[in-house]
Amino acid sequence: MSTPPSFETAGFKLSQPPDPSWTYGQSVTSTKLGKTWEEEEKEGWKTVVPTEADPRYVYGLCISGIVPRPIAFVSTVAEDGSENIAPFSWFNQVSPNPCVISISCSNTPREKDTTANIKATKGFTVNIISEPWIAQANSCSIDAPPGVSEWTLSGLTKEPSVSVRPARVKESAFSMECEVLQIVEIPKADGTTAANLIIGTVKYIHVRKAVLNEKGFPVSRMGDIMYATVNNGFRIPRPAWAEAKEEIAQTFGSASL
Ligand SMILES: Cc1cc2nc3c(=O)[nH]c(=O)nc-3n(C[C@H](O)[C@H](O)[C@H](O)COP(=O)(O)O)c2cc1C
Repeated sequence: MSTPPSFETAGFKLSQPPDPSWTYGQSVTSTKLGKTWEEEEKEGWKTVVPTEADPRYVYGLCISGIVPRPIAFVSTVAEDGSENIAPFSWFNQVSPNPCVISISCSNTPREKDTTANIKATKGFTVNIISEPWIAQANSCSIDAPPGVSEWTLSGLTKEPSVSVRPARVKESAFSMECEVLQIVEIPKADGTTAANLIIGTVKYIHVRKAVLNEKGFPVSRMGDIMYATVNNGFRIPRPAWAEAKEEIAQTFGSASL
């Protein structure tokens, strides 16, 4: 099998599978940690019951264990026309035919603007992030007050959609225009809603022609504040409005957001 040249130029190392000589029934002999399987087994297991553990611990454990996650960069519009965009990594494809995807938006500490907007105006766009504009995308996870446009803060470009009100991100190599199909409320023990699983039908897919020949890598989410492409990882802190607001006001002036 030959190596596609575009992968090599992007620093991607295509190697043999870890155990190319494996045959049916052959057991595991070593792990990636440099220990033998038996040595690692001796350290035993930690078993966590999510309903009994500290929810912050379960959150940290799950976002480190369920990796890498693709990231949906979701653009929405409120009923009054105000625009919103934010990243969501509890995201995946549900079905190719019909073409359906899902994202999950937690209600912690409150219902996300993304959820409220999708409930109100039904359409949203999902944009896949690539490495050159990860800083711009990460900035949109800021807890900005209502009325502040993350689009303006980020410096990203709006491209009008064909079938839904929210714009798609022009810098994205792969964007989907989606219409809500169903919203599943995930209940807490006390009956309140913990999260909304938003299931959307994909109406249009826009693919940058330049990436159809495999150049460039989308960015995924790992544990903690780690992002990764298939050949690289980096940490970017989540911005907080309380810390960033002065710098933002200096850059934009409070009237222009
Ligand atoms: C990489 C990344 C992935 C995220 N994934 C999720 C997610 O899957 N679900 C969620 O509720 N919040 C997630 N967040 C947090 C939201 O992006 C953040 O709360 C954002 O402010 C929500 O914006 P909104 O209230 O404008 O919708 C993520 C943040 C980052 C940086």
